[in-house]
Amino acid sequence: MKRAPRTNAFRDRWAGDLRAVDGQTEVTVAGWVHRRRDHGGVIFLDLRDRSGLLQVVVHPELAAEAFAAAEALRPEHVVSVSGRVVEREAGNVNPNLPTGEIEIQAARVDLLAEARTPPFPVDEEGPLEEMTRLRHRTIDLRRESMRRALELRHDVVAAIRAHLDEHDFLEIETPILTRSTPEGARDFLVPNRREPGTWYALPQSPQLFKQLLMIGGYERYFQIARCFRDEDLRSDRQPEFTQLDMELSFVDEDDVLDLVEGLMARVFAVGGLDVPPPPWDRMGFDEALARYGTDRPDRRFGLELREVSAAVRDSQFKVFQSVLDSGGAVVVLDAGRVELSRSELDGLNEVVQRHGGKAVAWAFVAEDGDWRSPIAKFFTPEQIAAVGGEPGDLLLFAADERRVALEALGGLRLELAERLGLERSGHDVVWIVDFPMFDWNAGEERWDPLHHPFTAPTGPLDEPGDLRSRAYDLVVDGWELGGGSIRIHDPAVQRRVLDLIGIDEQEADRRFGFLLDALGHGAPPHGGIAFGIDRIVALLGGRESIRDVIAFPKTASGADPLTGAPAGVDDRQLRELGLRAR
Ligand code: AMO
Ligand code: AMP
Repeated sequence: MKRAPRTNAFRDRWAGDLRAVDGQTEVTVAGWVHRRRDHGGVIFLDLRDRSGLLQVVVHPELAAEAFAAAEALRPEHVVSVSGRVVEREAGNVNPNLPTGEIEIQAARVDLLAEARTPPFPVDEEGPLEEMTRLRHRTIDLRRESMRRALELRHDVVAAIRAHLDEHDFLEIETPILTRSTPEGARDFLVPNRREPGTWYALPQSPQLFKQLLMIGGYERYFQIARCFRDEDLRSDRQPEFTQLDMELSFVDEDDVLDLVEGLMARVFAVGGLDVPPPPWDRMGFDEALARYGTDRPDRRFGLELREVSAAVRDSQFKVFQSVLDSGGAVVVLDAGRVELSRSELDGLNEVVQRHGGKAVAWAFVAEDGDWRSPIAKFFTPEQIAAVGGEPGDLLLFAADERRVALEALGGLRLELAERLGLERSGHDVVWIVDFPMFDWNAGEERWDPLHHPFTAPTGPLDEPGDLRSRAYDLVVDGWELGGGSIRIHDPAVQRRVLDLIGIDEQEADRRFGFLLDALGHGAPPHGGIAFGIDRIVALLGGRESIRDVIAFPKTASGADPLTGAPAGVDDRQLRELGLRAR
C-alpha cells in the first residue's frame, strides 16, 4: 500500500516507511510503544504506527530529557519521537523488519497518552481465546494479523471499485430500512414508532432494489452492500455481512460470467491467490452433486462418490434393498487405501448423521477382490465385483434418498480428507450452473426455489420439477464465494413462480406489488450476482473464519462481546414503540 508522508505537529513520516536512504535526515514519528528494552544505560523502543515498526534508541548522554521520558514508557503508551535516522551497524541489522537497517537516534520523546497494561500482549501473535480477542477488540486490532487482514480488505474493495468504474458501473446505495427481501433466512425487524405494529425489515440483500434500478434504466450497478440475515451462524456466516452486489441489463449468462471473471481474476491477484486464468470451468449442479455430494465442491482432491444402486440391487442386505425399493439410492465413497479401526469406522456414522444421513456401511476390498466386511455375506461375488474398487480400498456406503445419501457422503468426504491429511494444494475455481429451479417441499406441499424466486427459469413452467434455472455460483476451494442469476423480467412469469412457491396473487401484490408493477413498465432482460466480500478476503488472507477479516464481528451466538449488543433497552423506549418485552 502506498502512503503519502503526513506532516503535522505529531509526525512528518510514517515510521514503517523509513529506509536506509533516509539516513541522516531528521524525522518526527508518532505511534505506540510496541516494546521497550533497557540495555545498560541505553533504551531501545520499538515504535509502532499503522505502517509498521521502527526502532528508536535513546542515549542518556545525547538526550537527557528524552531518556528520562523513555524510562517512564510502558508498552502501548502513545508517543511522538523526533530524531535522526541512522544506519545500524552491520551486526545489528534486523533482516526481518523492513526498517531493520536503520534506527532513530532520539532527540526528543513526547508522551501523548499513557496506557494501562493491555489484556494480552500486542507484540505477540500467539493463539488467544477468540472471546478474549473480541471483548478487547480495540487491542486485538492493533495486532499485526488484524492489521494485515483489514488492509487486504481495503485493497480488495479498492480493486473492485476501480475495475467496475472502468467498466461503466455506477455505485448506488439502496435502503437499509426496507421490506423483507426473501433470500431464505429470517429477517431482522425494526419497529416503527410512528405506527406501532408496523415494521421495517433489514435487507437480506439488495436484490429487489437492484432489479428496480435496472428497470429504472441504470444498466450497470454495483454496491458494497451490508446485508442482514437472522440464521444459524458458522465460521463463514455472520448475521450482518458485506456483499459486492452487481446487476447488468441486456445481458445473458455468458456476458455476466465473462465480466465477473475479469473482475475476480483481478481481485484474486490482489491477494496473490494463484488461480487458473479465466475462462473457468463450468460444472452442472447434477454432476457436482453426483461426484462430490455438494453444490460447492472442493475438487483439489479425489475421493469422488459413485452411485452403485444398479450394482447392488437385489442383494440380501435388507437396509439397501428397502431403500432401493422405495426409490432411493446406494452411493459409495471409495476412501482409497486406508486402515481404520473398528471404533473409527463406527465413528463415521456420527459424521454422516451430522450431514443428514442415517449411517454408513463399510467394506475393505481384499487382495482377491472379496470384501472384508460385516455385510459381505449379503452380496454375490458378481455384485461385489460390480461395485469395484482396488484391493486395499475402504468402501463407505450410504443408502438413502439419492440426494440425502450423496450429501451425507459429501460431508464425510470433506471430513475424511481433513482426517487423512490429504494434500489440497493450489486453488480451484469452478462455476456451478444448471441448477434445478425448484425442490419439492413435501411437508408444505409446495415448490421451494433453490435460489431466490426472482431467478429466471430456462423454460416454461408446466413441469416445475424438471425445470432448470439460469443461476450460477462461483466456488473456490469448496467455498461458495458468490451466486447470481439471469432474472425474470416478465411479470406474468414472476407471478406464476411466486404462485408455485406458495405465494398467491393477493400475497404477491401485498409483498411484491412494487416489483410486479415495475416489471410491467418495460423491464430490460437483466441479471447479476453477489459475492461475499468477507469470504473473499478470508480466502485471500488464508483465514479460517470470516470473523478474522471483519473489524467488529459477532460471535457464533450473534453477540458482540465488545459493546455487549444485543442488550435491553429502557422501558420508555419500548413504550414509545408500543412494545412490551415478554
Ligand atoms: P446469496 O444469498 O447467494 O445471493 O448471497 C451471495 C453471497 O453472499 C455471501 N453470504 C454470506 N456471507 C457471510 N455471511 C452470511 N450470512 C452470508 N450469506 C451469504 C456468500 C454468497 O455467495 N441476491 C442474491 C445475489 C443475486 O442473485 O444477485 C444473494 O444475495 O458469499
Ligand atoms: P442395522 O441393520 O441398522 O444394524 O445396520 C447394519 C449395517 O448397515 C450397519 O453397519 C449400519 O451402519 C449400516 N446401515 C444402516 N443404515 C444404513 C444406511 N441408510 N446407509 C448405509 N448403511 C447403513
